[in-house]
Amino acid sequence: MHTLFKPMSQYNTRKHILSLHLNYNFDTTMTTTTTTPTCLLFFLLPLLITTIISPVATAGKGQWQLLQKNIGIVAMHMQLLHNDRLIIYDRTDFGLSNLSLPDGKCRNDPTETAVKIDCTAHSVEYNVLSNTFRPLFVQTDVWCSSGGVNSSGTLVQTGGFNDGDHTVRTFEPCNNCDWREIAGGLTARRWYATNQKLPDGRQIIIGGRKQFNYEFYPKNDISAVNLYSLPFLVQTNDPGAENNLYPFVFLNVDGHLFIFANNRAILFDYNKNLVVKTFPQVPGGEPRSYPSTGSSVLLPLKNLQSRTIEAEVLVCGGAPKGSYQRAEAKEFFGALNTCARIKITDPNPNWVVETMPEGRVMSDMVMLPNGDVLIINGAGSGTAGWELGREPVLNPVLYKTKNPSGSRFESQNPSNTPRMYHSTAVLVRDGRVIVGGSNPHIGYSFANVLFPTELSLEAFSPSYLEPGFANVRPRILSSILGSLKYGQKLKLKFQVKAMLDQNLVYATMLAPSFNTHSFSMNQRLLVLESNKVVKVEGTSFEIEVTVPGSPVHAPPGFYMFFVVHREIPSEGVWVHLV
Ligand SMILES: *[C@@H]1O[C@H](CO)[C@@H](O)[C@H](O)[C@H]1NC(C)=O
Ligand SMILES: *[C@@H]1O[C@H](CO)[C@@H](O)[C@H](O)[C@H]1NC(C)=O
Repeated sequence: MHTLFKPMSQYNTRKHILSLHLNYNFDTTMTTTTTTPTCLLFFLLPLLITTIISPVATAGKGQWQLLQKNIGIVAMHMQLLHNDRLIIYDRTDFGLSNLSLPDGKCRNDPTETAVKIDCTAHSVEYNVLSNTFRPLFVQTDVWCSSGGVNSSGTLVQTGGFNDGDHTVRTFEPCNNCDWREIAGGLTARRWYATNQKLPDGRQIIIGGRKQFNYEFYPKNDISAVNLYSLPFLVQTNDPGAENNLYPFVFLNVDGHLFIFANNRAILFDYNKNLVVKTFPQVPGGEPRSYPSTGSSVLLPLKNLQSRTIEAEVLVCGGAPKGSYQRAEAKEFFGALNTCARIKITDPNPNWVVETMPEGRVMSDMVMLPNGDVLIINGAGSGTAGWELGREPVLNPVLYKTKNPSGSRFESQNPSNTPRMYHSTAVLVRDGRVIVGGSNPHIGYSFANVLFPTELSLEAFSPSYLEPGFANVRPRILSSILGSLKYGQKLKLKFQVKAMLDQNLVYATMLAPSFNTHSFSMNQRLLVLESNKVVKVEGTSFEIEVTVPGSPVHAPPGFYMFFVVHREIPSEGVWVHLV
């Protein structure tokens, strides 16, 4: 299989910076000229020196790279595991995929709606480190399902369609593992539901089509009531369009759940089945949830040792009321170009509206290790659903969380590949965002359609990965990382070749999220409390950080741990919070 990208560790020497700069400039500006390398070096030297001295000021607009032309399936759902493998799947009723199951295996499913005897794969494991993939065997239909990783790092996937709608499936991170199915693991059918990991390690599974309720997995007690009603999902259900599927759910720092559906949100005590707060409607009242698919993130949680921790939620994009019905009649409304941000811990919270450079529907919001949010993929008009999106938005937009309002959006370099309905984006440990999928058709369709079924995987490298930042990029040296305890103080060693500012160093922990239908479930970035950086020797430094003190702030499980210097993140290392 092809290995098209270089791991970031290869970029560490100055020699590499130089050669990469030359290559980069060759590729972009010198393709039609015949300048000799010496001339080129002379020409580029001033540029190179500026880059090294003031890296932040010269940050570019990110770069795209094709990783795999064809992984054989549509990346409709993606989850990163702590062995650096992405588990990817679409649906068993798409018809035949472009990847065979291994060892002549076939699925013989009399209830299947597309192909009853199917020898193709509908799931793959992609190895981020080696840029290779292998087919996986999923037995029942996982279409439009939800999931998350449990405290010990196993992917626990819930629901789907048809014969798979009550099924729970698990995938353990080990070599040559495959899916395991737990038939009847769910009490209700879950199709377009959202999962959130809870402080005790269980997942809550909320909603889904025609399911105005929630349940937990695993169940505490099989004899107990397993289904709890949630009238908020009835109240937010638009006739003819729903607009409340795949609700945006976040665990607030007070232990309650923030649940957003359609154009509004509640704070919910899932233990008492009680709405503890109703947030105001987003100004304008336009829907933001599936199929008017916007996206949402919980902004970085910081000051975790203080008594009054603040939590903020950002919701971006979506499609105006009536978009779904109009799109079915071939009229495609422009997508919403607004984001709305709210401090959910405020006693009297209010939405603050910001304007994106363009309208976006079906975009993903990916939290970066430094707390910025990458808004990527999607369309400029129409909605989610079969054939209902138009005008692909090829350029991502960076939302710079710490900038003042009015200067937060930065357009990035575009991809060549439309990523419409059923596309995904996930951050991996080295800081890249892996992007895949797009299939607005009922089956795989490669010709004579507006947006052919897309089987490729690409990586978007935010500008912080530019080789010019190698000197200021931290590298984690500590081997004490691994298992972390709540509230633990940790002396963390790292290396920075050119320490520019010891006050501009911090550490973050990011939970790997389950991405589908433009929402990343369980996405959560924690900024750790820390003491001032001290120099150990030469280019080695030490910072003392405090691990989050409560599973309400950081549910147990695996996180990617980063050190950030001047907004440039290190490569992450996996830690297990227990
Ligand atoms: C997938 O397989 C179909 C049928 O064999 C073929 O026509 C199509 O070109 C393949 N597509 C890709 C992207 O490999
Ligand atoms: C995670 O899921 C796996 C597979 O079901 C299970 O064996 C393991 O005990 C679970 N971990 C926890 C902490 O529940």
